[in-house]
Amino acid sequence: MEKNRKEIALKMEKDVFDELIDELQKKIEEDEKLTYSKKVIEEYKNPVNFRPIEKPDAMGEIKGPCGDTMRIMLSIKENVIKDAAFWTDGCGASIACGNRLTSIINGKKLDYAKNISNVDLVKSLDGLPKEHEHCAVLATDTLRKALEKYHKA
Ligand code: FES
Repeated sequence: MEKNRKEIALKMEKDVFDELIDELQKKIEEDEKLTYSKKVIEEYKNPVNFRPIEKPDAMGEIKGPCGDTMRIMLSIKENVIKDAAFWTDGCGASIACGNRLTSIINGKKLDYAKNISNVDLVKSLDGLPKEHEHCAVLATDTLRKALEKYHKA
């Protein structure tokens, strides 16, 4: 009997805890929707290019003024980007920027990639909150660094 009571009490605690977690998750998702565009959330939640490339032909890495780092890796053949991937220890916006940027340049010529600005990137994400615009700068600067190193090599 005593054991049953303990089990019931534990189950009730777990149910309350699960409910709290669900509520918290909903609140976080509502806040995200108020802060970020649908595209930013999509890119952030499914960053398909957040992965390594073995033996990349070009790689750039920059630590931004916020203290976060981004790395972009490229496979290049005959002036065309055959594969692009990234890594970052930064915020959700930096993940969205890295993913969007590497998706945009995949299959494109180097000159095209070199000319993508942070403003273009922000536009392609349907905007970023002002305080996260520097995350797009970090992404495009990192790409430019990778391309510069490729040309120097
Ligand atoms: Fe540092 Fe976004 S990259 S805050």
